[in-house]
Amino acid sequence: MAENKPILVSGVKPTGRAHIGNYFGAMRQFVALQKEHRSFVFIADYHALNFIQNKDEMRRLSLDIAKDYLALGLDPETTTLFKQSDIPEHAELAWIFDTLTTMPYLMRAHAYKDAEAKGAEVSVGTFNYPILMAADILLYDADVVPVGQDQKQHIEYARDTAEKFNAKFGDTFKLPKEIILDDVAVVPGTDGRKMSKSYGNVIPLFADRDEIVKAVMSIVTDSSGELPQNVYAIHKLYRSEQSLEPLYQTNQNNYKTLKEALIEDIDAFVKPLREKRATIDDADVAAIIRAGGEQARSIAQTKMKTVRERIGVTY
Ligand code: ADP
Ligand code: TRP
Repeated sequence: MAENKPILVSGVKPTGRAHIGNYFGAMRQFVALQKEHRSFVFIADYHALNFIQNKDEMRRLSLDIAKDYLALGLDPETTTLFKQSDIPEHAELAWIFDTLTTMPYLMRAHAYKDAEAKGAEVSVGTFNYPILMAADILLYDADVVPVGQDQKQHIEYARDTAEKFNAKFGDTFKLPKEIILDDVAVVPGTDGRKMSKSYGNVIPLFADRDEIVKAVMSIVTDSSGELPQNVYAIHKLYRSEQSLEPLYQTNQNNYKTLKEALIEDIDAFVKPLREKRATIDDADVAAIIRAGGEQARSIAQTKMKTVRERIGVTY
């Protein structure tokens, strides 16, 4: 029975085209784990609103991410696929958690510290980001949250928040655990830093061949004549290290040949996914998201009923 399966919750913000770091670090796991879990996967559009403040762009990016999930094999019959903004209970629960959360605690969050360090004035939404995320996760009684390494602290915040609430109001929330795959915890970008939409160093997941060629050719290689670390680190996502060894042995200084081999491997991998994606249309995606939203909403409403009772706002 579905009810006995562990519950999986995860989301990706629609802040740009998905890249291979998102895929290997997080999205691939959603597909791989969906059968053995009761899965909730969502588009974190209210989180993205911290970055994307343009109506057309938001709509396009949000639909695109949903399409990506479907092309990757996320099955809407098995996984509840929805968008965060369709479930107002996320924001409602985040508010309740806000009242239990101190400013110094949120000031220790990496994402806040990074934004601060850049000298920008940090929005309240950015400051509060981990609390909305805690609400996303705790609302569905998640057992596991598959994410990349950079989200580890956010899952800790969700656990802390659950504990705080439980201690004050009685046992209400499960303590979720992150699932982080060690070997793909941080996929490097073309410049060697963590691949990230915000660094402009990505290989888009659904790139066409020209984009793959352009991105791979731009991968920074060191000039020490040893293994081109950045090329290799990406290549081993597509092929076993065993099968890469002879290739990298024979072409030690021949970065161009190694990059060409990587281009072929990426292209061969993504071609069928690209083709599948091209057959999915916006109207179908919107209908799937709407139906997923209805399912998620009814679960969220049931949970919020308990939460409201626990905090004493219902008569
Ligand atoms: P980005 O940094 O590109 O904006 P997101 O913050 O939207 O990516 O991340 C979406 C998911 O993909 C998260 O679970 C995150 O941990 C994972 N992820 C992002 N970049 C990488 C990477 N370079 N390597 C591994 N996982 C990643
Ligand atoms: N913060 C996550 C990211 O940047 C996205 C996200 C929002 C998320 N809510 C979540 C991930 C809940 C897992 C669970 O990638």
